[in-house]
Amino acid sequence: MYQFKDHHGFLVTYSYDLNPFSQTPAHVFILTRYNGQWVLTKHKKRGYEFPGGKVEAGESVRQAAGREVMEELGGEAGELIYIGQYKVDVDPEIIKSVFYTELTSLTPKHDYYETDGPVMVTGDILSDRYGEKFSFIMKDDTVRLSIESIQKKVDGGKKLG
Ligand code: GTP
Repeated sequence: MYQFKDHHGFLVTYSYDLNPFSQTPAHVFILTRYNGQWVLTKHKKRGYEFPGGKVEAGESVRQAAGREVMEELGGEAGELIYIGQYKVDVDPEIIKSVFYTELTSLTPKHDYYETDGPVMVTGDILSDRYGEKFSFIMKDDTVRLSIESIQKKVDGGKKLG
């Protein structure tokens, strides 16, 4: 378990365990790559962030992850690899499951819901995410811990993207 304060001062608890806070989290967050580049969405208010959102009624957590990737990026998710789960101590509390997926396609659309669509990030995302264009949800350790896990689990220790 890792604990830290987010950009707004709320306590965040992150774990690589399977569903440590909830079997049925209400939110998902998906780190996505396509052709070796990170793919974020440009949220109309918050700025660049990985896609994510709420699990809808009647939907599984993985179905929600696939749907958000399609809605916010126009991307078809490949295998969704579970990375971890985190809890934000806002009121009411928010629990998000984190996944990684390599997109199998990325097709331009007219409407990206609450976002302006995909943004490819080519540089060092762990440094770049502190820039003002990036959403506050990218700035805390949830993103660093998730990327470190992807580098170990998926990239075999290599530093890709
Ligand atoms: P809607 O999706 O329009 O309901 O947006 P919302 O931002 O009001 O609601 P949501 O339930 O997504 O989030 C409520 C609050 O929780 C936000 O204002 C943030 O303070 C916090 N929050 C949500 N997601 C995250 C996250 O991934 N990381 C951190 N640190 N805080 C989050």
